[in-house]
Amino acid sequence: MGGLVYFSSASGNTARFVARLGLSAARIPISPADAMPEPALPYVLMTPTFADGEGRGAVPKQVIRFLNDPGRRALIRGVIAAGNRNFGATFALSGRVIAEKCNVPQLYRFELAGTEDDIARVRAGLEKFWGTECLTMA
Ligand SMILES: Cc1cc2nc3c(=O)[nH]c(=O)nc-3n(C[C@H](O)[C@H](O)[C@H](O)COP(=O)(O)O)c2cc1C
Repeated sequence: MGGLVYFSSASGNTARFVARLGLSAARIPISPADAMPEPALPYVLMTPTFADGEGRGAVPKQVIRFLNDPGRRALIRGVIAAGNRNFGATFALSGRVIAEKCNVPQLYRFELAGTEDDIARVRAGLEKFWGTECLTMA
């Protein structure tokens, strides 16, 4: 199975989701002073959304920094976005923005730290996704 890279701010919702998934994952640090993960293999990126009222700033700054590196950007294969439906039209907008800019599929969206159902779907979905990736790369 391919890798998982995620960002989570101080509120830690996405980090809790990843901990419950029980898969190994590399965290993009909150502080720009800390080292970025340097994935050597294809990965799915999971990120929350922090847009303003007009939908600007949806993708966290540290995630933009991570993706600005061509070597890291070349290995992204899909995106899973988190958010809060209270934000209406900008719900999980970061996923749409990254999918479009990096030309990869948005695989899933969930709210806050996710439900048991979200966990089960993402686990099964990632397994299936990396299964097809292996076939296309064979
Ligand atoms: C300032 C701010 C802006 C936010 N904007 C959005 C938004 O536009 N769309 C959305 O779906 N969620 C939005 N959220 C909700 C977060 O994406 C959500 O709380 C997420 O679980 C945070 O993940 P984290 O705790 O892992 O950082 C916003 C949260 C904050 C604090």
